[in-house]
Amino acid sequence: MCGIIGITSTKPVSSSIINSLKKLEYRGYDSAGIATLLDGKINEVKCEGRVKALETNISKIKMLGTVGIGHVRWATHGVPSTLNAHPHSSESVSVVHNGIIENSTLLKKFLVEKGHKFKSQTDTEVIVHLITEYLKENDLKNSILKMLKKLHGSFALGIIFKDQPDLIVGARRGSPLAVGYGPNENYLGSDSYALKSMTNKITYLDDGEFCILKKNSVEFFDDTGKKVNKSVLELSNEEGDYDKGDYKHFMAKEIEEQPITIKNCINEYIDKINNDINLLNFPWKQNEISSIVLIGCGTAYHSCLMAKHWFEQLTDLDISVDIASEFRYRKNKFKSESLYIFVSQSGETADTYAALDLCNKNKMKTCSVVNVVESSIARDSKFVLPIHCGPEIGVASTKAFLGQMLVLYLFSIKIAFVRGSIDKDKYQTKIKSLLSLADLVKNTLDTDNQIQSACNSFVDAKGSMFLGRGSSFPIALEGALKLKELAYIHAEGYPAGEMKHGPLALIEDGMPVVVIAPRDYYYNKTISNMQEVIARGAKVLLITNKSTDEIFSENIWQKIEVENTDDDLLPFLITIPLQKLAYHSALKKGYDIDKPRNLAKSVTVE
Ligand code: G6P
Repeated sequence: MCGIIGITSTKPVSSSIINSLKKLEYRGYDSAGIATLLDGKINEVKCEGRVKALETNISKIKMLGTVGIGHVRWATHGVPSTLNAHPHSSESVSVVHNGIIENSTLLKKFLVEKGHKFKSQTDTEVIVHLITEYLKENDLKNSILKMLKKLHGSFALGIIFKDQPDLIVGARRGSPLAVGYGPNENYLGSDSYALKSMTNKITYLDDGEFCILKKNSVEFFDDTGKKVNKSVLELSNEEGDYDKGDYKHFMAKEIEEQPITIKNCINEYIDKINNDINLLNFPWKQNEISSIVLIGCGTAYHSCLMAKHWFEQLTDLDISVDIASEFRYRKNKFKSESLYIFVSQSGETADTYAALDLCNKNKMKTCSVVNVVESSIARDSKFVLPIHCGPEIGVASTKAFLGQMLVLYLFSIKIAFVRGSIDKDKYQTKIKSLLSLADLVKNTLDTDNQIQSACNSFVDAKGSMFLGRGSSFPIALEGALKLKELAYIHAEGYPAGEMKHGPLALIEDGMPVVVIAPRDYYYNKTISNMQEVIARGAKVLLITNKSTDEIFSENIWQKIEVENTDDDLLPFLITIPLQKLAYHSALKKGYDIDKPRNLAKSVTVE
């Protein structure tokens, strides 16, 4: 998964390409490259590492081409290296690619037999040689059509041609691609965000389509080569907040701004005058839904698990949760009374999109909970619930997790009320509690000192465990995921009651274990499980909520108490110290917090 950009203009394009690539780095950051065309010659600059390094390399030379393509890479085929960085070029074309060509081995064999020489280990290079081969006997459009027909897998492509001074071809299957319109120039990009500083006029390609961009025209075609008319969307001019401000990292900023994002989201959904939740234009009647399937990946999957808990507690609906990469290949029993909810910060995650697409093809009711409202998942869902968090730049999700949980919780209490599972009193009491959530989260942000001292034990540990029951289990999973992805410390989230069936064998003297035990229905049971790990030498960091009741347990290593509130809202507060634990552990280890190794913010390959 990668980010691609293309610009055709009357002016040199390299610096605009670099600026857009910086915005696309959330899609991959192991290498970057650019190719521009000038006087019939394609010039390439590529390097391992970040766009910043590419920018430095380009500043040493003059790249004056007025048509060009750029790429940020997250390696799939071939190690991250300058050689494997895109663009990949032949004597006649240069290509950038986001996606995976599944039949590249077969295609390569066919091309090698025809005398083509490969330079890289990438799957992408077959595209370069296929077009080069077809151009020998076909015009440009037919070469593209023939090449696209040969490819299996997913792709968004940007292609420039040595003999076409102002032309870029874009094509998509599976991976997203947007076209932007400017004065005497046009653009191609993996998303509209990358194009935002240049234009707010956008057209999204549909699956199977390709386009031909020149500086003064754009044409779209379907997969048979037939011209298609497409509409131009005008996006809001709001730039969003992409600045770190005084913070050391985006992640630190995004953790700290959670009280604001919660307030914004609540303002969008809660009608404070009538003490009600607005789900404007929700398209289905309550008797049309008898079950809900929640689908997501990574952190978004954890918010689905959290939502299952709330929906089950509050409604009569059957609830199931699935990981998108599993759901898409499962033999699903689609039922017309099911509502399928897709949760995704970026709205571009390939597996989540494929799961949505599958449901749409089976004519299911589809709804998405997204942060990026212009994303593919939002565009292709029948109903959208935005989380109103503003841009999340840190690769590890923080404020979007709270935003997803919040929207899913709002949704669950509204549905519970509409279906008569909770009465008006209970409904409005829950809404009232929600109005104080932002302040409670703000108070919880003060746990820094305690967390920093606890970090040392995690940083030096061979491994760690995060335990919880009920609503604390998804939070345990999320806490463990944060520590893994940021501090590269082995961490397992586990249902506290399941430890005795195997994982207890891992506990040894001094192993740090986070136990999440708010004083809810599961409290006593979790405390007993905590006792069992303490008895085997674990150093327990207990996270609970304030109470006048004593905790009946000895030898707790450290304890963090969050404020008291409605049990349903405790997961929001408990998440905060866990985010900070991962952040400070990574900081202590000197890791790249906003861009952890091997990861990417938006995973656009399956
Ligand atoms: C990546 C990110 C995670 C995120 C997951 C799903 O793995 O690093 O933070 O939770 O993708 O992303 P989505 O955009 O669909 O929420």
